[in-house]
Amino acid sequence: MKKVIVITGAGKGIGKAIALDFAKATRTKNGFDPVLILVSRTLKELELVADECRRYGATADAMQADIADTTQIERLVDSTLQRHGTIDCLVNNAGVGRFKPLSELSEEDYEYTMATNLKGTFFLSQRVFPIMEEKKSGHIFFITSIAAEISFKSSALYAMSKFGQKGLVETMRLYAKECNVRITNVMPGAVYTPMWGEVPAEMQAGMMMAEDISGPLVQAYLLPQRTSIEELVFRPVSGDINE
Ligand SMILES: NC(=O)c1ccc[n+]([C@@H]2O[C@H](COP(=O)([O-])OP(=O)(O)OC[C@H]3O[C@@H](n4cnc5c(N)ncnc54)[C@H](OP(=O)(O)O)[C@@H]3O)[C@@H](O)[C@H]2O)c1
Repeated sequence: MKKVIVITGAGKGIGKAIALDFAKATRTKNGFDPVLILVSRTLKELELVADECRRYGATADAMQADIADTTQIERLVDSTLQRHGTIDCLVNNAGVGRFKPLSELSEEDYEYTMATNLKGTFFLSQRVFPIMEEKKSGHIFFITSIAAEISFKSSALYAMSKFGQKGLVETMRLYAKECNVRITNVMPGAVYTPMWGEVPAEMQAGMMMAEDISGPLVQAYLLPQRTSIEELVFRPVSGDINE
């Protein structure tokens, strides 16, 4: 089955791992034939991930777009529909974090965080949902965070944006249940990705890896449409990192 899957933030970190795990599932799971639309602001990274996905037999398009810009969201969705006819799955993974003490967070930090994590996630989901609603099938993943439920001292803006994303997840689920669309809230704790920058070795040892998240996400997608994994919660076995 051909499935058109849009993954935001697919150039690195968790999004890249999700793209590769979808690609690895090509044809091994009952003829699963993914068409991966890989999105971020950095085309070069996307092209490398797309090449890797194609080596596993998947179709992959690298599509540069800033989801904080609604014009670019329109262009992304329109060109996906023109090229592939539909969207079966949206992985809302693109996200940013500015981690500083409360008193040091600036207005620019606020605008930057909310533009991607809230505005971008909202308007992309709002644009894609009617496509799924009309055909009465589809799946939207939101990579929120455990920071959608628990706050850490240096993550005031990040937590605000992730609590906000959770509000969107819960609201969209009310619509999705009426039209056979699955919504999965993916809530990881600390995952070692470029988002963290340099981290000391002992801290890294207490973190999860991107593929720990992507594997179960792809399995959730490949379940029969009648079954929805509503939440996936991942924590480092030794507990949260309180940065
Ligand atoms: N790492 C963790 O510990 C952790 C834990 C829980 C939840 N999460 C969440 O998981 C998601 C992925 O995080 P990560 O750790 O993999 O981060 P990452 O390594 O920094 O990767 C983020 C990806 O999102 C893209 N992106 C950011 N802003 C974008 C925008 N406005 N438009 C399009 N693409 C954009 C980035 O590419 P460009 O910069 O090139 O656009 C990049 O490909 C985020 O939503 C994050 O909040 C992460």
